[in-house]
Amino acid sequence: MKIAVLPGDGIGTEIVAEAVKVLKALGLSFEMESALVGGAAYEAHGHPLPEFTLKLAQAADAVLFGAVGDWKYDKLDRPLRPEQAILGLRKHLGLFANFRPAICYEQLVGASSLKPELVAGLDILIIRELTGDIYFGQPRGRRTAVDGHFPGAEEAFDTMRYSRPEIERIARVAFEAARKRSKKVTSVDKANVLETFQFWKDVVTEVGKEYPDVALDHMYVDNAAMQLVKAPKKFDVVVTGNMFGDILSDEASMLTGSIGMLPSASLNDKKQGLYEPSHGSAPDIAGKGVANPLATILSAAMMLRFSLNQEEAAARIETAVQKVLAQGLRTPDIYSEGTTQVGTAQMGDAVVKAL
Ligand code: NAI
Ligand code: MG
Repeated sequence: MKIAVLPGDGIGTEIVAEAVKVLKALGLSFEMESALVGGAAYEAHGHPLPEFTLKLAQAADAVLFGAVGDWKYDKLDRPLRPEQAILGLRKHLGLFANFRPAICYEQLVGASSLKPELVAGLDILIIRELTGDIYFGQPRGRRTAVDGHFPGAEEAFDTMRYSRPEIERIARVAFEAARKRSKKVTSVDKANVLETFQFWKDVVTEVGKEYPDVALDHMYVDNAAMQLVKAPKKFDVVVTGNMFGDILSDEASMLTGSIGMLPSASLNDKKQGLYEPSHGSAPDIAGKGVANPLATILSAAMMLRFSLNQEEAAARIETAVQKVLAQGLRTPDIYSEGTTQVGTAQMGDAVVKAL
């Protein structure tokens, strides 16, 4: 089991160190090798995703990733910015399916911004398509308008695109995931306005016929955004395109209490995956030893489950995390009165002890 460890920038190094500690405590034999990525790699090698780092990731069964970025790189040309490293890794590894489970742990029900009864027991899975949609569609650019409401004016444009194979493979991933859960998929689109998403809806419906045991419903994205805060527990697996998934998964993250609790997995068709917390490098708290490492530790659990075939070890980590929460240990982002405030390393140590 080969793991490429890419801590990155800011709190990335602090939280990944805790996840590595937890992985080592499992007593399994991993081959773990680290490399620089993002701003750290730019400083050392002049590029956010150096050849060595990319090769290491490509040769691994899984990548454990921290976060990249810092405001001090904002003035760099776009291809040299730290964030390009994560886009490059997604592209080179063919990672097309992004899993973001939003689970509200019993101990954190009070930390959510929604009423306790709306989030108690919440366990939904948002699956976002990662390679297509308006984020990558060509053509795009700026030009002088020849038609539209203001001919002759300066304008900008992007192209929303999805191909049948792209939709089919993400739909299959969603139906397969639902089979292991409560057998319900909600496909989110904007078929009433966008041809791309009428096509999305048609193709998902066709693929759904291969899964008669899974219930499929369709929802417009604006309604889905509303339902997520009105009655989030009505959802189980949500599958959607790149842009809608970006927005809805951030919305869902707040249901769980803190972005510091949310793991994620990005997978390709060979079960190779990149595992990272949903948050960024948090420059505002970097170096202070207060970042919540649980999202990264839970991402390591997803890595064991999806890429390394170690379901039992994955479940052990998840149980250990619930145990430390039940003990009342809290990093500042999830702290509430009556609990015990701890730092990043103490939280990691507590998970190791609970294992
Ligand atoms: P962020 O997620 O880094 O931080 C947002 C807020 O959440 C901050 O107040 C931060 O202190 C807090 N926070 C985040 N993670 C936390 C944790 N584990 N424990 C406690 N508090 C936590 O997002 P922001 O500030 O918009 O971006 C900072 C940098 O991160 C930027 O350069 C951005 O481009 C980059 N970024 C990188 C991502 C990645 O590597 N995949 C994803 C998102 C942002
Ligand atoms: Mg986002």
